[in-house]
Amino acid sequence: MAALRHGDPRRWLAQVYPWVKAPFIVGAPMRVMSGPQLAVAVSSAGGLGFIGPTLKVEDLFSDLQKAEGLIQSSSIASLTQRSTTALLPIGVGFQIWNGDLKVALSAVQEHRPCAVWLFAPRHGQNELNDWTTGILEASPETQIWIQVGTLGEAVEAVRSSTPPHVLVIQGAEAGGHGRAKDGMGTIALFPEIADATRESGIPLIAAGGIMDGRGVAAALSLGAAGVAMGTRMLAATETRISKGYQNEILRATDGAASTVRTQLYNHLRGTFGWPEQYSPRGLINKSWVDHQNGVSFDELKHHHDEAVKSGDAGWGPEGRLATYAGGAVGLVHSVDPAGVIVESVREEAKNIVLSLASAL
Ligand SMILES: Cc1cc2nc3c(=O)[nH]c(=O)nc-3n(C[C@H](O)[C@H](O)[C@H](O)COP(=O)(O)O)c2cc1C
Repeated sequence: MAALRHGDPRRWLAQVYPWVKAPFIVGAPMRVMSGPQLAVAVSSAGGLGFIGPTLKVEDLFSDLQKAEGLIQSSSIASLTQRSTTALLPIGVGFQIWNGDLKVALSAVQEHRPCAVWLFAPRHGQNELNDWTTGILEASPETQIWIQVGTLGEAVEAVRSSTPPHVLVIQGAEAGGHGRAKDGMGTIALFPEIADATRESGIPLIAAGGIMDGRGVAAALSLGAAGVAMGTRMLAATETRISKGYQNEILRATDGAASTVRTQLYNHLRGTFGWPEQYSPRGLINKSWVDHQNGVSFDELKHHHDEAVKSGDAGWGPEGRLATYAGGAVGLVHSVDPAGVIVESVREEAKNIVLSLASAL
């Protein structure tokens, strides 16, 4: 059982990822956008960066190879050599429902990332067990992270025959894909899962709506061993993102009014087949407004494909291109190097915790 491996979850994380500074900040594996530059920048700043799922199989191998090169020429190389295992100090994320387990295993075996993040199985925990078993055979020291969005999924994961080393609890605020209908905000979801899984000793990471030190301090108070940030990292200089998309992240405010969970943008982009329990959160644009007004899918698709040709101008409230982002997008105000984001968020969180403690 994972409990025997863990002891104190925070101390255990610090041992397994010795370069990571407290509070533990994770760069979430955002599909395509979390590339090697972003992942290595986050880890180099004392966080843990994940490479996201890639469009094509060969991109996964080239991303991992690029990350290896970046790590060798970065300050983190000397820190990680001190650890007992020669794992890459970055993780890699896979979407299970359309992922290729064979390819994933060969990439993990070849490059040995320190963590693999699994998300969105079509067939629940059984499928996660298959992936976990395969990955641990391919690279026994690699840690398995599983992202869940409900209490039921969390309990099933920790009680399974192959429990994860780390559980990521995704609140309904999160950008990108999350629970379509049974999601719950982080502040309600997280502590209940913490209570239900405490005995397992598995560290819990909070994801969803965390953009700055205030979010980190709140998550720590809820019992999180660390936080994962996606939307904030969309506005990092190292992120693999179009300028038009990134400008929208800075422009958008009031996530309650400006974001929606819908499969529409996936379908317009030609992505079908997501399991029905998931749906992505993104910014409302002209495609969504027209859809609400009854415009046919074919017409929306025509406009969407025209917008693709217009490049950066295709994003925006009058634009048509998908801008996946979280409900706290209104807290993102500037594009900064990922290292600056990680360090400033960490410092802000520490200062908040210290000032709260001294005020008591
Ligand atoms: C643009 C975007 C793409 C994402 N892609 C993935 C993904 O491929 N796999 C995954 O496990 N999570 C993905 N996520 C979700 C993140 O793992 C995380 O749960 C989320 O970003 C946390 O909420 P936040 O966006 O409010 O920080 C994505 C999030 C965003 C914003």
